[in-house]
Amino acid sequence: MPLNIEDLRKARQALAQFRSAALSPHHERYSFPFFAGSYFAYRKVDVERVAAVARAISGNPSYLDVGCGYGDFLKRVREFLPNAEGIEKDGRIFYELGIEKPADIRIADAHWIDSRYDLMFVGWMEPGQDFRDPVARSTDVIITTLDQGISLAAEFDGHGFSRVAWWRTPSWEDVNIEIMNRHYTKMPDGRRAELAKMRGTHNLWYVYSRPQKVGIVKEALKKQLEIEPAGRYDFESELDECGYGYLQKLENPSAPEPMWQVQFS
Ligand SMILES: C[S@@+](CC[C@H](N)C(=O)[O-])C[C@H]1O[C@@H](n2cnc3c(N)ncnc32)[C@H](O)[C@@H]1O
Repeated sequence: MPLNIEDLRKARQALAQFRSAALSPHHERYSFPFFAGSYFAYRKVDVERVAAVARAISGNPSYLDVGCGYGDFLKRVREFLPNAEGIEKDGRIFYELGIEKPADIRIADAHWIDSRYDLMFVGWMEPGQDFRDPVARSTDVIITTLDQGISLAAEFDGHGFSRVAWWRTPSWEDVNIEIMNRHYTKMPDGRRAELAKMRGTHNLWYVYSRPQKVGIVKEALKKQLEIEPAGRYDFESELDECGYGYLQKLENPSAPEPMWQVQFS
C-alpha cells in the first residue's frame, strides 16, 4: 500500500509533540520508527554482522538497502561500508515533507534494480510488497528482516537461495509497548511487571546466500561472533532497560531462543 503523505504529515506533528515531553531522547526511535529509527530494533552487533558478511564477499563491497525509507540503518552501515547505498520508492517522503534526501539514497522502485550488488539488505517490508524476484536476480547474498507473522514476502528459499543463519530481535512495536508501559502509562508496579513477562520479540533476521557462497557467509558470521560485542550505540540502553538485552532469553514461549543469538541452518 503506498504511503499516505497526509498521514505522514500528521505523524510528524505528533512526533514534534512527543519530543517536547519525551522522557528520553531515544524513545522516539521506537515510537516513531519511520521518521526516527527503523521498524526492526537493532544493536551495533547487527550492523557489524551485516558489514562482516559484505566484506567477506568483496574487499570493497557494493551494498543496497532496499526500501530504506529515510535510511537510519543505512547510515549506520555506511560507517563500515562507505559505498553502501539505499533505494526508496517514494520520493515524496523527502520532497513533500521538506526533508533533505541523502545523496546515497536513490529514488526508484526496487522492481527496476539494474545493477548487481555484493549484498542486498531488505529491512521490514510492509505486507503486500513483494520484490523478491528483482532482488534475487541482482545479488548472491541477501539479509532480510521481517516481522514474524506480518511480512510474508521476505523469504528467499524458493528463489535459489539457502538460509545460512538467522537471529531474533525485537520489532519497534515490541520495544514501544514496553516504553509506553514503563514511562508513559500510569499503572501499579505489579501490573507492569506482569505485563513485562508477556513481552514478545517478533523481528527475525534471515541471512540468505546462493549455494556457492554459503561457506564464505557462514565463516564470516562465525568469525564475527568470536569478537562481538565490540561496541554499542547509545540508544541500546533503552533495549537493555526494556528487558531486550543482548543474548537475553524471554519468558514468553513464543520466543524460545536468546535474542541476538545466531542460529546456523
Ligand atoms: C515499512 S518501511 C521500512 C523502512 C526501513 N527499511 C525500516 O525498516 O525502517 C518500507 C519502505 O519501503 C519502501 N518501498 C515499498 N515498496 C518499495 C519498492 N517497490 N521499491 C523501493 N522501496 C519500496 C516504502 O516506501 C517504505 O519507505
